[in-house]
Amino acid sequence: MTSKSGQSSTAGSPLAPGWLEVPADLNALHEPLWAAGVERNSDGELTIEGLTVSELQRQYGTPLFVLSETDFRARARAFSDAFNDAFADICGGVDVYYAGKSFLCTSVVRWVEEEGLRLDTASGGELAVAARAGIPGADVALHGNNKSDGEIHRALDMQLGRIVVDSLDELDRVAAIAANRGDTAKVMLRLTPGVHAHTHEFIATAHEDQKFGLSMAGDSTEKAGLSAAEEAVAAAVRHGSIDLLGLHCHIGSQIFEPDGFALAAEKLLDFLAAMQTKYSIVLPELDLGGGYGIAYTPVDTPRPAAEIAQAMAAVVRSKCAALGISAPRISIEPGRAIVGSTTFTLYEVGTLKTVRVDSPGAGGDVTHPRRYVSVDGGMSDNPRPVLYDADYSAILASRASDAAPQLSRVVGKHCESGDIVVRDVYLPKDVAAGDLLAVPGTGAYCWALSSNYNYLARPGVVAVRDGSARLIVRGETEEDLLNRDMGV
Ligand code: LLP
Repeated sequence: MTSKSGQSSTAGSPLAPGWLEVPADLNALHEPLWAAGVERNSDGELTIEGLTVSELQRQYGTPLFVLSETDFRARARAFSDAFNDAFADICGGVDVYYAGKSFLCTSVVRWVEEEGLRLDTASGGELAVAARAGIPGADVALHGNNKSDGEIHRALDMQLGRIVVDSLDELDRVAAIAANRGDTAKVMLRLTPGVHAHTHEFIATAHEDQKFGLSMAGDSTEKAGLSAAEEAVAAAVRHGSIDLLGLHCHIGSQIFEPDGFALAAEKLLDFLAAMQTKYSIVLPELDLGGGYGIAYTPVDTPRPAAEIAQAMAAVVRSKCAALGISAPRISIEPGRAIVGSTTFTLYEVGTLKTVRVDSPGAGGDVTHPRRYVSVDGGMSDNPRPVLYDADYSAILASRASDAAPQLSRVVGKHCESGDIVVRDVYLPKDVAAGDLLAVPGTGAYCWALSSNYNYLARPGVVAVRDGSARLIVRGETEEDLLNRDMGV
């Protein structure tokens, strides 16, 4: 198998990127990309727990997010079990906060709770979903680099288990608001350990030059010598209205290797031990954030959760021993790794066209076909390709086909040439208008980032469990789209 950095394909179209292989069987499902329970039936149609995609389209329309509740629950449990096993002897296990920003609605909050996880939120709106779902505030964390006073009040009203404070300014604000209410805020401090995660620039979050967190670098504030992180610890200790639980970091997203997480853990433990000694305090909690990657294409090979958990646990174990401290209770915040692969997006094919493109590096007189397959959604239901150059894959879902593979680009229906759903994929040559395509791996940051660009209605989300489907978020209607237009 070639790597994504490869330049040219050994087989297939010269226009294809080096990593994209011509599948031996275009009808086969590459298992790591799909939720459990998704398969082709004997007629060749894609099914989920026995429900055909054509039935789902008839009932709910397209585009449609099709989410396996069974798979969501299984992944939540598996992730939690892997980390709990790895850390059992170190700190009695791990608290897993599902990162709601990846995909949130009240049903999901209830599944998370029922599977023994907690919830990470990042705004008042996400807190509103949590409140409506009825999860106890003690199991909820609130993030954000610019929390409003209203959000801080709401967090205190809901008696959240933790507010993750992002800056010195915010620490003072939280302290003042809590003091005025005669309240105490449970606080974690989000630090930037300077670990640069190998991921897209916009989803790497622990290096120095970005908006999140308190810098651990010295001389980063006017009080030379004290890092912003240490200043925050000192201030938190001074404030009677702050209960400082511990430290937090999140190094980025869609990360495959455990090294970055392990390095961040070491740096935070060094700092935690130093702060405990210097300020005669105990910091009982350490949150190592989310960011665990998933497969979007057949060449993506993320490590299993158990492997990452064990690598992180080994570092925490040896670092705490070297520092002579008892390990803090560890928490993590996976979003994508739980929900990402539970979902596929179902689209209907419309317009097709084929262009001829110069062969890369071959003068100009040799051209090759690239087929554009337009579907009934696009960047409004999945902006990740345009935002992060994210790659996806797609299959013909409504039927099997024996036709030859054709290099294709799946595009949306928006007025932008960058409106790409799957940049490069081999699909059968006979794909035609009315066929259904399925794009796997769309559970995280697709519905969550969706928009109404070009006044497209955002798709609904259908959850499948025990062989039956139900809408957990209905699709928007034209009425919804016009609702806020005041018409004055
Ligand atoms: N914790 C914190 C503090 C975070 O900021 C995030 C994600 C997570 C946990 C969950 O990360 P995950 O396990 O899902 O990777 N829209 C981008 C990803 C942005 C991530 C934002 N923060 C994307 O579509 O790739």
